Amino acid sequence: MVIVMAPEATSDNIDSIVELVATAGGAAYVTRGVSRTIIGLVGDIEQFETLGIAAMAGVSDVLRISVPYKLVSRENHGSRTVVSVAGVPIGGDTMTLIAGPCAVETPEQTLAAAMMAKSAGASLLRGGAYKPRSSPYAFQGLGEAGLQILADVREETGLPIVTEVVDAHDVELVASYADMLQIGTRNMQNFALLQAAGEAGKPVMLKRGMSSTIEEWLMAAEYIAQRGNLDIVLCERGIRTFEKATRNTLDISAVPVAQNLSHLPVIVDPSHSGGKRDLVLPLSRAAIAVGADGIIVDVHPHPETALCDGPQALVGADLEALAAMVATLPAAVGRPLT
Ligand code: E4P
Ligand code: PEP
Repeated sequence: MVIVMAPEATSDNIDSIVELVATAGGAAYVTRGVSRTIIGLVGDIEQFETLGIAAMAGVSDVLRISVPYKLVSRENHGSRTVVSVAGVPIGGDTMTLIAGPCAVETPEQTLAAAMMAKSAGASLLRGGAYKPRSSPYAFQGLGEAGLQILADVREETGLPIVTEVVDAHDVELVASYADMLQIGTRNMQNFALLQAAGEAGKPVMLKRGMSSTIEEWLMAAEYIAQRGNLDIVLCERGIRTFEKATRNTLDISAVPVAQNLSHLPVIVDPSHSGGKRDLVLPLSRAAIAVGADGIIVDVHPHPETALCDGPQALVGADLEALAAMVATLPAAVGRPLT
């Protein structure tokens, strides 16, 4: 059982619940988040239900949920969550396009990519300043200088920024620039990072681990939620399979499955799943048709010289084709572009 406290709940309200649960022979684990406090109860649920906790001062919700991802579960959650990223909705009645360079390289490259993203219909800009690379010799990102470039480009284009954080120690810094934090596939089960992101006061995009089940993905999201942050967007980005024709296998069924299990929005990354430019459009179409709440796509003004993931970045006619597709297909399936 999980108790969600109202934002205005006092320490006395919380202490009263902890004491009551203790007298009933149970244990209460309190997690204080930025905007709300969550109390997890362990013990005899039938007994807890006789205690009248729902009516106690400061209590917003009492959730009796059977799955191990209680706060992000769709059980007992009336409506699907719409996450607002600096005013841009993800989830709900629209489909959101996030686009930008895989990595921030220079101010000129980032601005050019942002203009390309905007011209394609994107309402959010992606771009990595901290890059999780397989090889320690590969470009690792510009760090804080990259964040500053993103902030300047946001100023110039008006596009809010989504950017990755790879280390729990950097969360505060990255959150001071970002409108939305991204946690990548390689860090999906970095629990300290998930907890720190949950306390950062910014929405979080959580990519699915490349070898993770959907349940593991939702439990990872629960680590963020447990710290009081329910502004989470799930991102399916392909999983490892025996297939070598694509960089990763896009698990398109993960979209409706995760949407059925969780109230959180689910988006798709066709760039990192396909790994090839010519796959991005068909995979984007599939994602929109299956009901994804958004797609996140790599674009680059000069993919041939990109410092990271050039082969999957859209440019020229491919980008124009994406723009034409997102101008019509989302509306045709009842979710016009945000
Ligand atoms: C890009 O965003 C990632 O950092 C990249 O896909 C990592 O892959 P690689 O380092 O194996 O090239
Ligand atoms: C990214 O989107 O920049 C990224 C590193 O993706 P993933 O974590 O899915 O590999």
